[in-house]
Amino acid sequence: MKMKELLLFLSCVLSVSADPLHSDIGIIGCSDSDGEDMNGLDGEEVRYADFIKQKDIYPQPPFIDPITYPGAYEQAVANQQVCRENIKLFGKGMKDFPPEQDAPSAVMIYTRDEVEFGEKNTLICHVTGFYPAPVNVSWTKNQQKVTGSSINTPYLNKDGTFRQTSRLDFTPQLGDVYSCAVQHLALTKPLTKIHEVEASARSDPGVGPSVFWGVGLTLGLVGVAAGTFFLVKGNECS
Ligand SMILES: *[C@@H]1O[C@H](CO)[C@@H](O)[C@H](O)[C@H]1NC(C)=O
Repeated sequence: MKMKELLLFLSCVLSVSADPLHSDIGIIGCSDSDGEDMNGLDGEEVRYADFIKQKDIYPQPPFIDPITYPGAYEQAVANQQVCRENIKLFGKGMKDFPPEQDAPSAVMIYTRDEVEFGEKNTLICHVTGFYPAPVNVSWTKNQQKVTGSSINTPYLNKDGTFRQTSRLDFTPQLGDVYSCAVQHLALTKPLTKIHEVEASARSDPGVGPSVFWGVGLTLGLVGVAAGTFFLVKGNECS
């Protein structure tokens, strides 16, 4: 068995007090063809090294005070060298041991925002429970391959498996069918999830609210009738 898999070295998992306020994570990993060097905080990506763009990326939302790690990219490059050396050593030492493999335990597809026709939105394909990292995620629209999706770096779950999220910007049009297909070392064929853009109550109120109205009105009338009945009965007894 070739050590193609991402070997992961947990460099630090730090928590504050018994009931952790925050949990900080650092992942350094590599394979023959791939590498990861990232920092996370409370389940979110704070920084990762982009070895193609040759710099650190800080995928943080605009509403937080930026957290930066000066010099981390150079360190990440050095870490990759060490990681690849280690892989060679482990490959020799463990050549006959088939590495553990877990196929993704769940794939979920959903939209970032509530769907409104013609309004820009993002499709999210969330994959979790796999080992080793990473997964490949590809997207189709009406059976045709689409490009332009992005995927974050693998994040470690508490049980030692990984999760990853792929995103595809799209503009919902009635009847369009999207799919995300997940490839992983432990899968013989891709796991696929479908999202269909359906007529929703949001842009076309249609029958939904009026049914509610009807039910509400009926319940109200029943209430009035019952109330009147008991009122009359009550008066009769006194
Ligand atoms: C993911 O895609 C790359 C590039 O196409 C390929 O080399 C690799 O084997 C794929 N990984 C999996 C798990 O299918």
